[in-house]
Amino acid sequence: MNRRQFILGASATTTVPLLSSCVSMGTVLQAPPNIPLSEFGADSTAEEVTAGLDLTGNVALVTGCNSGIGFETMRVLALRGAHVIGTGRTLKKATDACAAVTGTTTPVELELSDFDSVVRCADAVQALDLPLDMLICNAGYVAGRKQQRAYGVDLTFVINHLGHFILVNRLLSQLRAAQQGRVVMVSSFAAVSQPPVTIEFDNLAFEGNYDFWHSYAHSKLANALFSLELAERMKDSRVTSNALHPGVIKTNIVRNQAAILRWIFGIYADLFYKDIPQGAATSVYLASHPALQNVSGYFFADCNPVYASKPENNLYNRTMAARLWQVSEELTKDYLS
Ligand SMILES: NC(=O)c1ccc[n+]([C@@H]2O[C@H](COP(=O)([O-])OP(=O)(O)OC[C@H]3O[C@@H](n4cnc5c(N)ncnc54)[C@H](OP(=O)(O)O)[C@@H]3O)[C@@H](O)[C@H]2O)c1
Repeated sequence: MNRRQFILGASATTTVPLLSSCVSMGTVLQAPPNIPLSEFGADSTAEEVTAGLDLTGNVALVTGCNSGIGFETMRVLALRGAHVIGTGRTLKKATDACAAVTGTTTPVELELSDFDSVVRCADAVQALDLPLDMLICNAGYVAGRKQQRAYGVDLTFVINHLGHFILVNRLLSQLRAAQQGRVVMVSSFAAVSQPPVTIEFDNLAFEGNYDFWHSYAHSKLANALFSLELAERMKDSRVTSNALHPGVIKTNIVRNQAAILRWIFGIYADLFYKDIPQGAATSVYLASHPALQNVSGYFFADCNPVYASKPENNLYNRTMAARLWQVSEELTKDYLS
């Protein structure tokens, strides 16, 4: 095998799970009962799903507003009149992104791998003294091949799940104060990839064989289960919580991968999957559409709810969701209000 074949082969072994896990899910997921189906689908854009909506007076927070799906989510919500609080890992990133959209925006710094930063972000949002109508946990991270940890656990789990867990919990009173607060968790169908993904309660540090894709899938299952348990805990309030798969979209999400993998991912995504306006549609739909006022605890894709039809899919595993909440609370107890 020559060097070129080796590089292509190695790239394929990482690209294929990344893409195939996203493609094959249609065969294992079906619509849940009793939830209204929307007129929108895979081709719908964020502007289309909000056409005619006036969000003036609404406040939204979008994490990771400076790139990809998050930027488009912020742009369209602001376009429809919402005041969008956009977070970036630095204040400059958030400020530049906010300055690039039309409408009312407030930039805030949020580095999800640093729980003190999450607390400062929540404090800054609370200081605005506004009800929070939409909290879109969009920021996401795919690690490179080298494993990293923070707070004793896998870094991807910290960024994608625990950071958002603290943020949402600290902003619950703002969400409750809104006419109808909504939490939207940007997860991924990676959460139901093969081999079956479960929360590694006994090995959150991922000791042993490290696989960046497993680490990502694990964190995205945590997003879905956090949303499920939050919906359960909020069921006596007006606050709803839903999770989603945005599609496969050429963004900066594979920034930590080898150049060849980024190239292959870009070509596949361009040829076969969604563009960024389509990728933001389900987030924006869940955050703002009037039809979803009473819909909570579901997982959406292409602006419609999906349900895990195979027992090994844990998207709706209530026992796992309840345990994840307890463990997350324990891991972050010094940072919860
Ligand atoms: N693109 C896809 O095909 C796809 C598929 C399924 C799910 N998703 C999910 O969609 C969401 C948006 O991703 P995207 O595709 O738009 O990717 P993206 O362009 O890479 O955007 C990710 C955003 O998250 C931010 N972020 C990363 N690490 C962070 C940290 N430690 N603290 C705070 N913010 C952090 C990034 O900030 P910087 O720019 O400063 O790094 C960026 O703003 C993610 O949750 C991702 O898992 C994407």
